[in-house]
Amino acid sequence: MCGIIGCVGRPDETLDVLMHGLGKLEYRGYDSAGVALADGDVGGRLAVAKRAGELDALRSVVDHTGTADGDLEGSVGIGHTRWSTHGPPTDANAHPHTDCGSRVAIVHNGIIENFQGLRDDLEAAGHEFTSETDSEVVTHLIEAALDEGASPEGAFRAAIARIEGSYTIAAVFAGTEAVFAARNDSPLVLGLGESATYIASDIPAFREFTDRVVYPDDGEFVRLDAGGGGWTVSDADGEEITKEIDTVAWDAEDTGKSGFEHFMLKEIHEQPRSLRQCLRGRVDELGGRIELPEIEELDPTAVQFVAAGTSYHAALYGAALFRAAGVPAQAFLASEYVTSVPPIGDDLVIGVTQSGETADTLSALREARGRGAETLALTNVVGSTVARECEHVLYIRAGPEIGVAASKTFASQLAAINLLTLATVEDGNREVIAALRDLPSTVQAVLDESTAETVADAYADAGAYFFIGRGLNFSVALEGALKLKEITYRHAEGFAAGELKHGPLALVTQETPVIAVATGDGELARKTVGNVKEVEARGAPVIAVTDGRSDVERYADHVLSVPETHPRTAAVLASVQLQLFAYHTAADLGRSIDKPRNLAKSVTVE
Ligand code: AGP
Ligand code: GLU
Repeated sequence: MCGIIGCVGRPDETLDVLMHGLGKLEYRGYDSAGVALADGDVGGRLAVAKRAGELDALRSVVDHTGTADGDLEGSVGIGHTRWSTHGPPTDANAHPHTDCGSRVAIVHNGIIENFQGLRDDLEAAGHEFTSETDSEVVTHLIEAALDEGASPEGAFRAAIARIEGSYTIAAVFAGTEAVFAARNDSPLVLGLGESATYIASDIPAFREFTDRVVYPDDGEFVRLDAGGGGWTVSDADGEEITKEIDTVAWDAEDTGKSGFEHFMLKEIHEQPRSLRQCLRGRVDELGGRIELPEIEELDPTAVQFVAAGTSYHAALYGAALFRAAGVPAQAFLASEYVTSVPPIGDDLVIGVTQSGETADTLSALREARGRGAETLALTNVVGSTVARECEHVLYIRAGPEIGVAASKTFASQLAAINLLTLATVEDGNREVIAALRDLPSTVQAVLDESTAETVADAYADAGAYFFIGRGLNFSVALEGALKLKEITYRHAEGFAAGELKHGPLALVTQETPVIAVATGDGELARKTVGNVKEVEARGAPVIAVTDGRSDVERYADHVLSVPETHPRTAAVLASVQLQLFAYHTAADLGRSIDKPRNLAKSVTVE
């Protein structure tokens, strides 16, 4: 949700850098966009352009205004994609916001909880507000401090000291060649280029220009200065903090579409590679061991997972794996975690979150730590908030995922959870290790031979879809339904296959395809076949996702095949078929696949 980009560089490049960065941040979800530029001339002015709607609306004003007449020129600048929380998406509510005297422009990601009281006081003191946002108070707080003689940096710090809530705020001042930023419970990363420096909500915004990054922590202040790429990170008292400089492990091309029509399709097809990355150097097949030094000391006696959306489905899968190894485990929707039995003793609480920024999950983990639990982050994003807040981190190494609907990160979450259980609570499981080794190539085989497109075409007009499965395939069914509803806007539900007859069967008609995930030939598969017969008897079209080891095909109208493998990896293969099914259905319907309506990639509010 919301994206911030800031840059201190060359006057003839800064606007392009900002627009490029906003393009790269689009995937996070937004409803308006804007930029502000400033330069160092004494008495210099701020140039601001902002528009509700897609980035193209902003591009048209930026192009129209152009840089030729100097309207939008400056060596320092900030840009923003807004995901409205306070006030509808209008031009006036779009960021950047300025003070009454247009001396400062700010962008804000998050929510300022005490904004109303501040706004009342500022209005009483004569400040005129031009938007309905919570964010605008910051500009007037800065203005008030400037009026009292503070320096730009002093005024920025004074304003930050007054606000409560979650935020990354970045500011530029007329006549000052610097960008200022501060964060609390909201993402911010610094990029260090040769002749320019950057701040952003996420690395893709500036990855094309540099791979050197610094991760500021909550409560820290950043200052980027013109001339030789100067930058500092300091604490609330102004004391400079020495920060480590990290190198990003992926390339700028990883955030492009590589010739695919959508990021989601590219990411689905990237799964063999991203799974290899997840497993690389971590599986010692000869020794039958898993090498994960980062979690070596973990020896959980009980486990709680907290997660949201797709990551929750991975958590359900994970809890089942721990339970199968004899360790009590439960998966909670992060937003419902308050209802859990408090963790005790050596309980481990695992937060599964691709982005590492999901507010519900962060808050559940904080709750768990408050109750004395040890926490582990299972995440994709290096330096994300979850990675910095948990005692332990296991990266899933899927590479950047741009499509709002998670695909490759789900597969890598499942693979990483296998590594986790193998390393902590399973005493060598050579069958699983061998299946994990083969997973990238079996996923490739599914991608090469999938008939999901044809099957999707056959049912693209259905009003509702039901997904069923048992055991690990129950989480696959839930994920298949979520994928479909997110990107097709069609009604889809996932059920434990056995639950169907306890109510949902009333919804099953000849118009409602039932997608049954039945892999293996064990008891769960046999019982799922029984449930398939129930829906078939009621005339529902059946699509079976199967490895052919049960006789589910006999009752199916269509089959999505997966190679025979271990039940744990079969779940990954089945979910790839369901990703393709959802993708092709959405493509048939002409949906906005990478940016579905109302959704954001990283959900930073509770
Ligand atoms: C997945 O397709 C969704 N976009 C969404 O459910 C997502 O999984 C959820 O918001 C959690 O995100 P996270 O993994 O970044 O925490
Ligand atoms: N709360 C602010 C607004 O509604 C910022 C929202 C965001 O993070 O984009 O404008």
